[in-house]
Amino acid sequence: MAKVTARDFLRRKVEGRKISMITAYDYPFALLADEAEIDVLLVGDSVGMVVQGLDNTLPVTMEEMLYHTRMVARAAKSAMVIGDMPFMSYQASIEEAVRNAGRFLKEAGAAAIKMEGGSEIREQIAAMTRADIPVMAHIGLTPQAIHRMGGYKVQGRTEAGAERLLQEACAVEEAGAFALILEAIPVDLAKRITAQVSIPTIGIGAGPYCDGQVLVLHDVLGLFARFTPKFAKRYANLKEDALKALRDYRDEVQRGVFPSEEHGFR
Ligand code: KIV
Repeated sequence: MAKVTARDFLRRKVEGRKISMITAYDYPFALLADEAEIDVLLVGDSVGMVVQGLDNTLPVTMEEMLYHTRMVARAAKSAMVIGDMPFMSYQASIEEAVRNAGRFLKEAGAAAIKMEGGSEIREQIAAMTRADIPVMAHIGLTPQAIHRMGGYKVQGRTEAGAERLLQEACAVEEAGAFALILEAIPVDLAKRITAQVSIPTIGIGAGPYCDGQVLVLHDVLGLFARFTPKFAKRYANLKEDALKALRDYRDEVQRGVFPSEEHGFR
């Protein structure tokens, strides 16, 4: 299978072929997602919550994101790899934003970056696009804005809020973003935005009318028990399987069943 690129996104929208995307943070799971022919692997800053055990994504650093992106990029044969810009890697200045974005492509093997925000980051999007760094924007519930939003809440429920998100979508498209994540917004609003912009929308908690979907890997595989958002669908229960395997191992060691003769050398 040929590598998925930013250029394919527009064609997929025109052809009505949905884009599948999932988060990945390390080599073994990226290998699985790539083998499953998922189109895009997002090395999300959700790594802070589902891998590092943090309460939110704010403490995640550039160095950590590059470290995880490298592992994922090594595994991805056909999937496109997108690196997520962590909190405060792009807000302070446009120059710093472009330099940090460039590191994902130059040092970690990503083919694009993702950034949370709408019109407030249009200058960053334009500057990165000029520097040949493809940008996926992300509006609606943006987890890095947890303190402004007062929690992980559905956005765009009022007419004014919906109107603002429509404008944000147009602003990021105009600035040069090649795709747009819509997180936790009403189904009808996601449908309106998807019809309004010519770049593909990738939904997460935004209903079925987006041009593609993204979920957090650990939610899909049943590996993150602490909290499962309403919009996530669990396709496996790896936590139960892993727990059983580990308990069986402990039990066999304690009973002297493992290792047996067959696991030893003569
Ligand atoms: O960090 C992340 O994993 C994300 C996705 C959930 C869209 O931003």
